[in-house]
Amino acid sequence: MCGIVGFVGREECADILVNALRRLEYRGYDSAGIAVFEGDRIRTVKAKGKIKPEKGDDEHSGLLYRLETEGKPHGTCGIGHTRWATHGEPSDVNSHPIGNERVSIVHNGIIENYREIKKFLISKGYGFESETDTETVAKLLDYYYEGDPLTAIAKVLGKIEGAYALGIIFRDHKNVIYAARKECPLIVGKGEHANYIASDVTAILEHTREYYLLEHSEIAEITADKISFYDINLNPVEKELQTATWDIEAAEKGGYEHFMLKEIHEQPEAVKRTVSPRIKDSMPDFEECGLTDEKINGYDRIYIVGCGSAMHAGMVAKYVIEDMARVPVTVDIASEFRYRRPLVTDKDLVIIISQSGETADTLAALRLSNNIGADTLAIVNVVGSTIARDAKMVMYTNAGPEISVCSTKAYAVQIAFMYLLAFRIAYAKQGITEEKCRELTSELLGISDRISECIEEKAQYQYVASKIMNADSLLYIGRGLDYAMSMEGSLKLKEISYIHSESYAAGELKHGTISLITEDMPVIAVATQQELFEKMQSNIKEVKARGAKVVLVTRKGIVYDEDSVDYKVVLPAVSDVLMPMVTIVPLQMIAYYTAVQRGTNVDKPRNLAKSVTTE
Ligand code: F6R
Repeated sequence: MCGIVGFVGREECADILVNALRRLEYRGYDSAGIAVFEGDRIRTVKAKGKIKPEKGDDEHSGLLYRLETEGKPHGTCGIGHTRWATHGEPSDVNSHPIGNERVSIVHNGIIENYREIKKFLISKGYGFESETDTETVAKLLDYYYEGDPLTAIAKVLGKIEGAYALGIIFRDHKNVIYAARKECPLIVGKGEHANYIASDVTAILEHTREYYLLEHSEIAEITADKISFYDINLNPVEKELQTATWDIEAAEKGGYEHFMLKEIHEQPEAVKRTVSPRIKDSMPDFEECGLTDEKINGYDRIYIVGCGSAMHAGMVAKYVIEDMARVPVTVDIASEFRYRRPLVTDKDLVIIISQSGETADTLAALRLSNNIGADTLAIVNVVGSTIARDAKMVMYTNAGPEISVCSTKAYAVQIAFMYLLAFRIAYAKQGITEEKCRELTSELLGISDRISECIEEKAQYQYVASKIMNADSLLYIGRGLDYAMSMEGSLKLKEISYIHSESYAAGELKHGTISLITEDMPVIAVATQQELFEKMQSNIKEVKARGAKVVLVTRKGIVYDEDSVDYKVVLPAVSDVLMPMVTIVPLQMIAYYTAVQRGTNVDKPRNLAKSVTTE
């Protein structure tokens, strides 16, 4: 969602700010702007639309066009923002930075009590131009400001409720940036005679890898040569400097047409990086993060909670853990879990899956589980993210930065990680022998080569894409693990190609959904599980008999009826339980090529944000 950047140094900063904003474009946004100290004033340039117009956009729109026509602000300190509209439509006036001649701010998050604050400020004579909650914060800062920014900020933080990350500049305090946050991410980057603020480290990686994590309700005061931190009572705070392990190449396209394609290609390496460090003496090992066999044996039930693809990774894990460990696993959508008074107890393990570690509903589900007293384990990609820090145990997936909004490699490493966890849980619960555990672990360790083989088969995915690209609606069907994969395949397709699609448990079709089948509704049948194949074959015949064009995704060694299939993708054979590790590739790539052939914005699909920090 919204992205924040800020720079203070010795160089002209307009381009630095815009480039940093472009690195945050992946978070999702619909307007952008910058505010820079120019002479003795703050000059703001902002515009609705993309920073640089994209295919189909008005070429005379966006921040870069506005900077060209109005002229870049000249100065060495400023703040910038990409806004994903919540309060008020995407428009120039609702874009950030927002403020008046004395103070200017950029804001990520939602101020829940903004109506009350607005009423109060109107009673004090303030007027409002935008429909945003952000403007109430800017004006409240102005109201409390009597020459000392820190005091005004501390007073405002005491009044506002909700989630926020803020970048703030005061005209009277030239070339100083102030920053504060609660719930929404914000880091302070440390350079050479130049310092930064950013929503995430990818925005500033080209300048520095060193940064501080701002904690809840802390305030940072940043000049070109000094960074100071304070708590809400304005006591100084010492912080530890962090070093990002990600490098700039990882956040660039590197010759690929889209980040999504690049990230699909990165999967074999990412899976290796995630799996290898968790294997000791050929066994999955989680003792380092506190998950011992003794603990595992003490759990009555396991809950797995996440949103979107992360939740789908939980579905794969459910099938594997229940089958092997014989322990009940409930998979929940975080936004449902948090409001349905879940029956979690202090004898349960709640596994929270999140790429970003900042998803608002997932974070709320984690905190609820912590409060209940359950053991919580976060499987997270972004180091130091809020979910990673709030969970009782944390384990990182090592996917590197995922820039495409549509998750690919982050999902692949999530399922790889969940396999390892499932094997260990099954071993600890005596559902599988040590020998079986070693055998599965070793196969998982070597699976990257099979994933690479699947990625090479581009022509067949392009061919399938060309056959489904004109459909209005599509159905994905599968059983067991293949049903879990259908869910993910369907999400990928609709997310980036805008073709409506649903996933269905194949056996459930006859209970209503089969009435939708016509020759205009292609069916992607995911059928990689030998044990369930006969049943799948019947379901495939049922849809074929009703006119559907059938795309079969199966594996080598499974014998199917050629007459019931129009197009096929045959994957390399790995153990049935591990098939999702390879099945994911064609599902991602069919979605990718369908979107490319339909000419949609693959990396930044409409209406979507990468990191969903509001409910
Ligand atoms: C789909 C996708 C989303 C995310 C979901 C959770 O391609 O990317 O469904 O999986 O928004 O995000 P995280 O994992 O960051 O909590």
